[in-house]
Amino acid sequence: MTGSALLPRSSGDVARREFARDVLAGLAGQCKAIPSKYLYDEHGSALFERICETPEYYVTRVETGILRDCAPEVAASAGPSCSVIEFGSGAATKTEILLDALATPSAYVCVDVCVEQLAASRARLAKRFPALPITAIAADYMRLEESSLPVFPGGRLGFFPGSTIGNLTPDEVQRFLATTRRVLGHGGMLLIGVDTVKDEAVLNAAYNDAAGVTAAFTINLLRRMNRELDGSFDPDRFRHVAFYNAELQRIEIFVESLIDQVVRVAGRAFTLRAGERIRTEYSYKYRPEQFVATAATVGYAAVGSWMDADELFCVHLLAGV
Ligand code: AVJ
Repeated sequence: MTGSALLPRSSGDVARREFARDVLAGLAGQCKAIPSKYLYDEHGSALFERICETPEYYVTRVETGILRDCAPEVAASAGPSCSVIEFGSGAATKTEILLDALATPSAYVCVDVCVEQLAASRARLAKRFPALPITAIAADYMRLEESSLPVFPGGRLGFFPGSTIGNLTPDEVQRFLATTRRVLGHGGMLLIGVDTVKDEAVLNAAYNDAAGVTAAFTINLLRRMNRELDGSFDPDRFRHVAFYNAELQRIEIFVESLIDQVVRVAGRAFTLRAGERIRTEYSYKYRPEQFVATAATVGYAAVGSWMDADELFCVHLLAGV
């Protein structure tokens, strides 16, 4: 095992075929939807980093503050020389807080679908932590199985910040938690950031920033389909729509067709009516006790849960029982 391997789980061709298959399947039904992970090509990942800097999107700032406060306690619980495995690592900006708090982490493993971001994050962290073995795995964290994780001494601390879990449906949450529980092994722990249920106006603003960065992020999915799947989407004929569904405790995000139109993508034509929507994301919100109860159903117990004073965000440390 080299110190910093980039292990592609699928070649470009395979990845593109999967993208085409998922898009065609997603547009075929009555309720059109495309899996959220496709938002994160190189452009989309950069736009997401800009979302994190908008004044309305509190998630990143608030979570970073909570992590700074709870990191010493997390390190004490997880042990000073555990390995850290980050699922959906993205720009991995919060990772340093955790690695700084651990005295002698045995390794850092990052898993992400965006190869460009993996390479950049690995390079940055290798500079910052020269003695730390780093492994980058280009994969969908939902498909990670135990065999694909390198073995390092010490226990495993999973890291899933940013409320990435919000993108998962309740079924997928069950699967994700059960899989990480297995993958993290005996004595494994999971540090997970979860967005809370709160004032609807705050939620709606966070996904409709005034500068239009979130809209650009959503619309980029159309541009990506044009680039990679020979699509004919005209971004000017669509708009970003995002709103909080209180009953289901989730933000729902769509691209909405402004007119009746026919679009071509991956070799097929689809008719869209004016006002018809293609869903690009759910972002589920949880009350802290609700999330802890869900984690308990797959054998996790909360060792600690930390919130900011305004209760905008919650970080949970879960341990296998
Ligand atoms: C990366 C899934 C946590 O749901 O808040 C932000 C994605 N989309 N604004 C979220 C997102 C639009 C984000 N997650």
